[in-house]
Amino acid sequence: MEGDGIGPEIVAAALPVLEAAAASDGARLEWRRLDAGTRAYAHTGSSVPPDVLEACRGVRAMLKGPAGLPGVRHADGTEAGTVAGPLRKAFTLFANVRPVRRVPGVPAIAPDGTDYVIVRENTEGAYATRDAGEVTGDGVEDRIRITREGTARVARLAFELARRRAAARAASPPGSGGAARVTCCDKANVLRSFAFFRRVTGEVAERYPDVAFDAVYADAAAAAIVDQSRRFDVLLAENLIGDILSDVAAATIGGLGFCPAANLGEGHGLFEPVHGSAPDIAGTDRANPTAMILAGAMMLEWLGLPAAAERVRRAVDRAVATGALGLQPDGRAASTRGAGRAVLEALA
Ligand code: IPM
Ligand code: MN
Repeated sequence: MEGDGIGPEIVAAALPVLEAAAASDGARLEWRRLDAGTRAYAHTGSSVPPDVLEACRGVRAMLKGPAGLPGVRHADGTEAGTVAGPLRKAFTLFANVRPVRRVPGVPAIAPDGTDYVIVRENTEGAYATRDAGEVTGDGVEDRIRITREGTARVARLAFELARRRAAARAASPPGSGGAARVTCCDKANVLRSFAFFRRVTGEVAERYPDVAFDAVYADAAAAAIVDQSRRFDVLLAENLIGDILSDVAAATIGGLGFCPAANLGEGHGLFEPVHGSAPDIAGTDRANPTAMILAGAMMLEWLGLPAAAERVRRAVDRAVATGALGLQPDGRAASTRGAGRAVLEALA
């Protein structure tokens, strides 16, 4: 699903990279192109029409460009062309995994070596009433829903991830080690729903004695992301908080152009850049395709091709280091196509 705005350009830059990486692992990717987003909305009244949903049900992974345009809205003011929301809901993609890794050489306020992951609960929290808030005469009420099951399953994924990351660090050069840690990020000081989120996460933590556990209020976390990001390994957050904090985190490592996301459920995975459709630069060949490419790398990992995924990440690093990626001071690319080719060449 190419999505809207810059979506088609960055997807076009990413696909050859992913195909080449998969091929070097002896795998062949077979694509099915589906129309979702504002075009689908204009034609059918739904950004994810039933036949697209049905087609997604049968695939092993979904790769999606940014979808939605600011001008395409429902009467209530919310965006009509977004695709991620409906897919997260339809396939219960309960975890939104958002790596925050500073690619060496990218101008950024985060220190060299910054590498942590935000795990955003993806199906409930303050977005539980997405498109379903209660509108009365003089107000609107959206609800925050936190359930034991919804919290525990995403918490377990966060702890498992922290464990795997610590194991990978232990296996890599000395000095890069560091214990596994999950930090719960909430407003447990204010809302009962968040106090419950923290309590359930703490209960899950007891089953992972090898993983350190702490909790921090979301406002303090926003500040720490800016000036103390080294304290984080895996940061677990409710849906809205995770949405906001992941954009803050992106700004510290050189911008949203470097931040991919994996939306994971039991059987389905949806992979996308964290950023939006940037209609202001659509069609100008200036969008940085890196987040899209890195989202594809997460997809390769999900498909059981971790070596291919790692090669893609290293190719991105190399293309940045040599300057071939063409990163501009404003975070955009000198050329989207050129950046895609640079990563492809670095891969070879
Ligand atoms: C994100 C986006 C989406 C969200 C929008 C586009 C629906 O902000 O994936 O972070 O609200 O989750
Ligand atoms: Mn967002």
